[in-house]
Amino acid sequence: MWDSLWINCNLCTIHDVENDAGLGIIHNGAIASTAGNIVWVGEASKLPDAPEKLAKEINDLNGSWITPGLIDCHTHIVHGGERINEFNMRLEGASYEEIARAGGGIRSTVKATRAASEQELFDKAMKRAQSLQSEGVTVLEIKSGYGLDWENETKQLRVARQVGENLPLDVITTYLAAHTIPEEYQNDGDGYIDSIIEKLPDLEKSGLADAIDGFCEGIAFSPAQIEKLFKAAKDLGFSLKLHAEQLSDLGGAALAAKYGAKSADHLEYVSEKSAKAMAAANSVAVILPCAFYFLNETKKPPIDLFRENTVPMAVATDMNPGSSPCCSLLLAMNMACTFFKMTPTETMRGVTLHAAQALGLEKTHGSLEVGKVADLAIWDITHPAELSYHMGFNPLQELIKGGKQIIQ
Ligand code: NIG
Ligand code: FE
Repeated sequence: MWDSLWINCNLCTIHDVENDAGLGIIHNGAIASTAGNIVWVGEASKLPDAPEKLAKEINDLNGSWITPGLIDCHTHIVHGGERINEFNMRLEGASYEEIARAGGGIRSTVKATRAASEQELFDKAMKRAQSLQSEGVTVLEIKSGYGLDWENETKQLRVARQVGENLPLDVITTYLAAHTIPEEYQNDGDGYIDSIIEKLPDLEKSGLADAIDGFCEGIAFSPAQIEKLFKAAKDLGFSLKLHAEQLSDLGGAALAAKYGAKSADHLEYVSEKSAKAMAAANSVAVILPCAFYFLNETKKPPIDLFRENTVPMAVATDMNPGSSPCCSLLLAMNMACTFFKMTPTETMRGVTLHAAQALGLEKTHGSLEVGKVADLAIWDITHPAELSYHMGFNPLQELIKGGKQIIQ
């Protein structure tokens, strides 16, 4: 007997039928789980027996839709303070870069994060995680990057782990010490990168981080500095990611691809050469439309280039206090469509299978397939495209994590 069976539903499996890169839709479907994993999925008419003979618990969904649980593969939800003053400054015409160069930006959140207790960071991060979860998110990536010293970076990572322990949510943690140069290392980016590298073996032993990330940009680190960090991190077996080509083209995405990075993120200014390098390395392009929106960017990421070169595209919130105070993955999907002309099918794949791939979880998460984790988002919608269409409306009906109902 299966543990649970869902019937009378439409399935958006994201399973590539002959690599069609579509939604893998099954009308009048059924899906079953046992011990937290999917054990059967398909057309209800093909179930091997009557439902009551197959499962201990039967859920009649009355025509609702099931998608894989959504995955937000790029967030900074653990941080102290907000940056409302900078929001006002930008409304008066200051640019993100100018504010950063004047000592605001990431550094102002570093001050607030260093000053915050673990409990304070946890309480705020839980609220943000719960907001994401209320829209169907079952896997969440959380970066450090606002501590910029060992004590405070690991404080952020511990809090990120605690969020995962206190919510029915899988949390993937990313060490982003190379987010910007802290005051203590003013004018000595090389020295700061060396200090990060020195601590990587301790980080590896601590088990606090699943991946290493950096910010390759004029206001942060050069490709040469990132390369040094990547070499050391790769030798220790960390997976890699990079904030690349957000404000200018430094060739960061190609560098990340060279080191087999799981993803390069932002990418507004990415070149064709870099996009081709990403395709060859099967690196995911993580598209962050809420940061584009909030910073009033005009340069759009080259979605056509990614399509032509079949670079997998993910969509994420980039939730952070400076460039994207956005706790809605559904809104990010909408913005990816309206601003960048991604299709609702692309955004749907972008918050499921491709987001899983950006986190190295594509074998276990991101689609409705036998053997994968039974993370199911159940929606009161007429088609999955509705998830990209609404603004400020949440059609989630139920959320299932590892076969268990967590939101009703
Ligand atoms: O992903 N690009 C760099 N990092 C963040 C913003 C950080 C901040 O402004 O606090 C981002 O947009
Ligand atoms: Fe980011």
